[in-house]
Amino acid sequence: MTAKLIDHFGRRIEYVRLSVTDRCNLRCFYCLPKGYKTFEEPGNWLTFDEIERVIRAFAELGVNRVRLTGGEPLLRKGLPRLAGTLSALPGIEDLSLSTNATLLERHAADLRRAGISRINVSLDSLKPERFARITGGRLEPVLAGLMAAKDAGLAPIKINMLALKGVNDDEFEAMVRFCLEHGFTLRLIETMPMGNTGRGASRRYLNLQEVKRKLAKTFELIPGVMPGGGPARYVQVKGTDLRIGFIAPISQHFCETCNRVRLTVDGTLYLCLGQEHSVPLRPRLREGISDAGLKAALTEALALKPERHEFREKPYQVIRLMSMTGG
Ligand code: 5AD
Ligand code: SF4
Repeated sequence: MTAKLIDHFGRRIEYVRLSVTDRCNLRCFYCLPKGYKTFEEPGNWLTFDEIERVIRAFAELGVNRVRLTGGEPLLRKGLPRLAGTLSALPGIEDLSLSTNATLLERHAADLRRAGISRINVSLDSLKPERFARITGGRLEPVLAGLMAAKDAGLAPIKINMLALKGVNDDEFEAMVRFCLEHGFTLRLIETMPMGNTGRGASRRYLNLQEVKRKLAKTFELIPGVMPGGGPARYVQVKGTDLRIGFIAPISQHFCETCNRVRLTVDGTLYLCLGQEHSVPLRPRLREGISDAGLKAALTEALALKPERHEFREKPYQVIRLMSMTGG
């Protein structure tokens, strides 16, 4: 019998979000400060062997899904190799990737071969100048990356769009049409007060319930479902395959169904995106902890998992940047 990871609130943990680097080649204003350079030292990065050990232990405790995140995960050299190792681990049924797609054109086919089935791509605007203002980078490679992903057979491809008042709130319809045209799934996301950048972006906060009402004036929206068990609530555009997910951590608390933990590149296990509760695993790994000891450490860590984030009540609480835990 596989032991199961169940926390104090009865939530079963079966999903690990694995940040393979805290670096990023973009500087989205709501995420990374311009000119930011304080990244983790390579000596403190978990090696691929260490990552494999931790994920293997998690899989033996019932985790069946892993998502590779960053920063920008494709900046980590050899990522397709790591993907191949992780997707072959017994028990891991679903390996996915969250990326800004800037480097995806070159890697899409390799990632598919390595066992990555589906990807999420951050894309807040389809207007080149606006994209550049938001991210500091160029839109063109991102679009090329998306098309390469589609050609490589990655599916579903989900577009993650942050809803930003006064920045891209005139583009929701255009993004719906873009996703319809290419067979992508759209997910709209509320900004979260992660780090000073995230808090700064709070003045751009848009309540997604309003966005949904507005979209319903143009498109006929019917209830939709999407396998995956994440926090998005889906609608479908009637008469099409297009699903639109709303990820509304602020206006719709969804912590009671949380099924995940997060591992950062330095080997810290975070129990909640919106809290600082964490356990450093790297020292234990480098001290030569046994497999049984590692599994015990993971099980014990779960006791620290808080009931919920407090983005609304305590927006000043989370000091780390979103790029450290990758959303
Ligand atoms: N609030 C919500 N989402 C954020 N992301 C980055 N910063 C924030 C924030 N403050 C999201 C990006 C991307 C992923 C890496 O995290 O939109 O999809
Ligand atoms: Fe990079 Fe994603 Fe943060 Fe943008 S949101 S700076 S793409 S990690």
